[in-house]
Amino acid sequence: MRKYIVAGNWKMNTTVPEGVQLAKEVVEKAKELPANVKLVVAPPFTHLAPVAEVLKGSKVALSAQNCADHVKGAYTGEVAPAMLASLGCEYTILGHSERRQYYGETDEKLVVKTRLALDHGLKVILCVGESLDERKAGKHFQVVTEQTKAVLYTLNPEDLANIVIAYEPVWAIGTGETATAAQAEEIHACIRNVIEEKFGAAAADDMTILYGGSCKPSNAKELFAEKDIDGGLIGGAALKAEDFIAIAASF
Ligand code: 13P
Repeated sequence: MRKYIVAGNWKMNTTVPEGVQLAKEVVEKAKELPANVKLVVAPPFTHLAPVAEVLKGSKVALSAQNCADHVKGAYTGEVAPAMLASLGCEYTILGHSERRQYYGETDEKLVVKTRLALDHGLKVILCVGESLDERKAGKHFQVVTEQTKAVLYTLNPEDLANIVIAYEPVWAIGTGETATAAQAEEIHACIRNVIEEKFGAAAADDMTILYGGSCKPSNAKELFAEKDIDGGLIGGAALKAEDFIAIAASF
């Protein structure tokens, strides 16, 4: 059964008290939502423990924004998957375009991180998406196909239940420019085909594929109406509980 998810990627925003307050507001407002949508928040590492406390007993799940590519040891500044799982994270985002672009995150690293995250009980929200230049060159299908295959094709069929894909065209992130519903849908359908090729139709049909990139209350309904768009990975609009919940209410 395909799950519908709206996840908020807070990126490097809010102080700890501000983040705790935001989480409290999200939990409160989430009570008004029907049960068909799963909510996830991904605060910075520093906020995870206090936000985990706020989320206890609520319908909102916790995610990290990244994790280390090693189990433990002398890796100063890194946070291991087991650490995240031990404080109540259900998910981690991996391969966000900001990490690919600014921190040299490669597909090879993502293969390692994804395996480790899954082995330590985390579900993975794997981000894929083309840059503006790649779209202008007509390479968007190719780029997204390659990014998806690079990680997914290393996994076992049973891992797929713990994977969510987020399609985030880089040119739509934080720019106010959203992909049209049709542009997003054709890439989502392409990702589903890539999954079907290796894992079969049932696995492809079960996969949750989120759209991310300037998704907001005013455009969420149109995007989520597409048959292969199963929710959103929300940046800026996730920093206001009201907007985040309004997006989740768009299903
Ligand atoms: P915006 O919603 O701010 O465009 O960010 C999208 C994103 O990168 C979520 O991971």
